[in-house]
Amino acid sequence: MELADHDISAQDRDDRRRRNYPQGYGLTFPVADYRPWDIDPEFLGLFAAVRAHTKLDVYRAYSLYMLGNQTAKTTGAVLEVGAWRGGSAAILASVVRPSTVYVADTWQGVVKAGPRDDYYKGGEHADADIDTVKELFSSLTLKNYRLLAGIFPEESSKEIQPEETFSLVHIDVDVYLSAKDATEWVWPRLATGGTIVYDDFGFYGCEGVTAYVHELMNDQRMRVITNLNGQAVAIKLR
Ligand SMILES: C[S@@+](CC[C@H](N)C(=O)[O-])C[C@H]1O[C@@H](n2cnc3c(N)ncnc32)[C@H](O)[C@@H]1O
Repeated sequence: MELADHDISAQDRDDRRRRNYPQGYGLTFPVADYRPWDIDPEFLGLFAAVRAHTKLDVYRAYSLYMLGNQTAKTTGAVLEVGAWRGGSAAILASVVRPSTVYVADTWQGVVKAGPRDDYYKGGEHADADIDTVKELFSSLTLKNYRLLAGIFPEESSKEIQPEETFSLVHIDVDVYLSAKDATEWVWPRLATGGTIVYDDFGFYGCEGVTAYVHELMNDQRMRVITNLNGQAVAIKLR
């Protein structure tokens, strides 16, 4: 079966097909064949509008869109740590309106790479800036967002009021320590039943985040669901 034009970029697919993967890695081909994103005009329009601003493929973008839609019916703000050019944050802001989406990035690339991170060294994805994000949000007439520039949480979390609570969090920071620090900051502020999505769980090169999510699976305060689209989803039980 040919993939639809919006599934993944041809460049991404070709790059991945050429890789020599180590044991435990390799492209996956699930046999599920329900493709609701193909017939959801609101989602398709939104994804087309953000596509040049996101590294997410259609599968992860749709999963975030669906979680955002469900979260819109609850109280609490949304937090994204790791926004790059703002694409995934714009999807969230569109569907959770009028709830606020806090959009955090250094806008100077990846930080806190360490011994658990095989690929990342620091400074990757610095090809984004805060004005690009503002322009994207403005083009979508989105006003329900706050930009947090700097290393999260150390430099930018002080911009968030102490009484703020969260219902949905998207952590897309590529490395172990940034994922851990963001999780530990948000955990006491996350509502019971609140959800954290780890974008990088199932990706070659993001071994630090994979390892961190495996650690979380021992934490009885949450359930962690791993998806074949690469995301891991943690739901707070208590
Ligand atoms: C893969 S990109 C995010 C992609 C984005 N979510 C999208 O829609 O494509 C990862 C981003 O995380 C940011 N980042 C990593 N660690 C961070 C931290 N501790 N605080 C703030 N930003 C961080 C980097 O600057 C980079 O822009």
